[in-house]
Amino acid sequence: MKVTVVGAGNVGATCADVLAYREIANEVIVVDIKEGLAEGKALDIWEKAPINLYDTRTVGATNDYSKTAGSEVVVITSGLPRKPGMSRDDLIGTNAKIVKSVTENVIEHSPDAIIIVVSNPLDVMTYQAHLTSKAPRTKVMGMAGILDTARYRAFLAEALDVSPKDIQAVLMGGHGDTMVPLPRYTTVGGIPVTELIDDDKLAAIVQRTKTGGGELVKLMGTSAWYAPGSAAAQMVEAIVKDQRRVFPVCIQLDGEYGISDCYLGVPVILGKNGVEKVIELQLNDDEMELLKTSEQHVREVMKVLEDM
Ligand code: NAI
Ligand code: 2OP
Repeated sequence: MKVTVVGAGNVGATCADVLAYREIANEVIVVDIKEGLAEGKALDIWEKAPINLYDTRTVGATNDYSKTAGSEVVVITSGLPRKPGMSRDDLIGTNAKIVKSVTENVIEHSPDAIIIVVSNPLDVMTYQAHLTSKAPRTKVMGMAGILDTARYRAFLAEALDVSPKDIQAVLMGGHGDTMVPLPRYTTVGGIPVTELIDDDKLAAIVQRTKTGGGELVKLMGTSAWYAPGSAAAQMVEAIVKDQRRVFPVCIQLDGEYGISDCYLGVPVILGKNGVEKVIELQLNDDEMELLKTSEQHVREVMKVLEDM
């Protein structure tokens, strides 16, 4: 089974590496527009196989989508990352064109592929891929929620001095500072997190999560890749192994949470058909208000795309 990763930069190469060493796919095709980059990264990952003991084949291609034909899942990471001082939304002008042309190429060669968008601004780039592919909404989704939830879980694990494995959480909304971590749906080994940490510390962790991407941009001068690449690979795994995992995923809402025609992160079941089901939580008034604020923000950026 074949998986394609478009963009052989930081996130794309990390995703391809995880897909290979965890043997999530038999064949991983990596495509980039920059001459030789995808071929080089794919060859480097293949040369690591005898050391790390995997047999997934990795193949690179410079803008040649014929090699991607028949892919079951395609991960789109192509596009500019942000620099210090930029918001994800500042990338829309360049990245919308890239995501549109990449999606056209992907669909021409793999018309049935499930598409996972990673490029920013995430929610609106998912919209762009959905518009271009004309595929059902269940087959075009964005990766952000797994990453944002992982940051939240990692910060909590550190504060509580427990294993991150034991922290379960849900986070909703757009991939930006209006995202909505949900302490009421956060547990530590089955114990509500609110019984283990005081309100102020929890509020600080929620705030750090919302700006977690920016924290890394400030430190590195570009955005993160280890956690984002791994998060995208985890979504691929849930699909190709039909795991029916429950993850927050960006999808076009169709009446869920009283919202339609907007792309937001919500908990879903992810399996062989893509999004198998959107899970509707019973949000309280405060949580719903935060989700609506996030919806408003994403709609503003969707409007920018529509006016382009
Ligand atoms: P990067 O600059 O390291 O890699 C991007 C790659 O895309 C480059 O190698 C570039 O040559 C390639 N590219 C550009 N135009 C292309 C085209 N038309 N066709 C094929 N390849 C093309 O950037 P990085 O760090 O890998 O980030 C990629 C994107 O992912 C950015 O937009 C970034 O903001 C986003 N991102 C999203 C996250 C999320 O949670 N959704 C997390 C981290 C990054
Ligand atoms: C992140 O959250 C930049 O969206 C990217 O790291």
